[in-house]
Amino acid sequence: MKAEQKEQLYEGKAKKVFATSDPDLVIVSYKDDATAFNGLKKGTIVGKGVINNRMSNYLMGLLAKEGIETHYVEELSDSDTLVKHVQIVPLEVIMRNVVAGSLSKRTGLPEGAIPSMPILELYYKSDELGDPMINSDHALAFGWATQAELEQIESMARKINEILKKFFAGVGVDLVDFKIEFGRYKGKIILADEISPDTCRFWDSKTKEKLDKDRFRRDMGGVEGAYHEMMRRIGLK
Ligand code: TMP
Repeated sequence: MKAEQKEQLYEGKAKKVFATSDPDLVIVSYKDDATAFNGLKKGTIVGKGVINNRMSNYLMGLLAKEGIETHYVEELSDSDTLVKHVQIVPLEVIMRNVVAGSLSKRTGLPEGAIPSMPILELYYKSDELGDPMINSDHALAFGWATQAELEQIESMARKINEILKKFFAGVGVDLVDFKIEFGRYKGKIILADEISPDTCRFWDSKTKEKLDKDRFRRDMGGVEGAYHEMMRRIGLK
């Protein structure tokens, strides 16, 4: 291991973050805890921590091969990963290929409608405010990101979408939408946080069955089964 684990720095809804002996590295520890609607709904998805950790690392590896810089350093165990210690840009970037969730609510378009191009949305990362949707002017005007950072974040998000959409199509899954976060590290913008069934919508390409956290959000049952099925599709077990 490249660094010794030290004190806990932060505990989020789905992950804990620990300092290490190297100030440039932290350890992320994935939990089975699940929340939705900004923490209003709480539960446990047994085995989720391991699945999200391993899936996120796998997908970050795939993206790295395609030239996307990520925070991933080393998988330490089934639930723990050594990552670069970034300063998170306070934006949640959502890419959408199919209408679902809040986009369906906001526009009245049915879930499953296909927009004529992928849609990029920005949200201000604030639990107190419930992550409100914003636009790039807000991000610039309030100093949440610089023009150069925003341009990089948007071009990386669109490229990540193309890579992941193609990968998931190959395993019979529609990548409906997903949320990603970016961090500043040694003067660069890199992909941080996670990519998992917690942060993506995955639909079986043929049956359109939901294989993601919407099963938890919407009390559909079969939550653990869906997470395991996504691992199986990816070839991780
Ligand atoms: P939405 O349709 O609820 O706006 O969600 C769009 C995508 O973003 C979906 O794949 C789930 C993901 N997401 C998160 O990862 N975290 C969040 O807090 C929210 C609201 C959505």
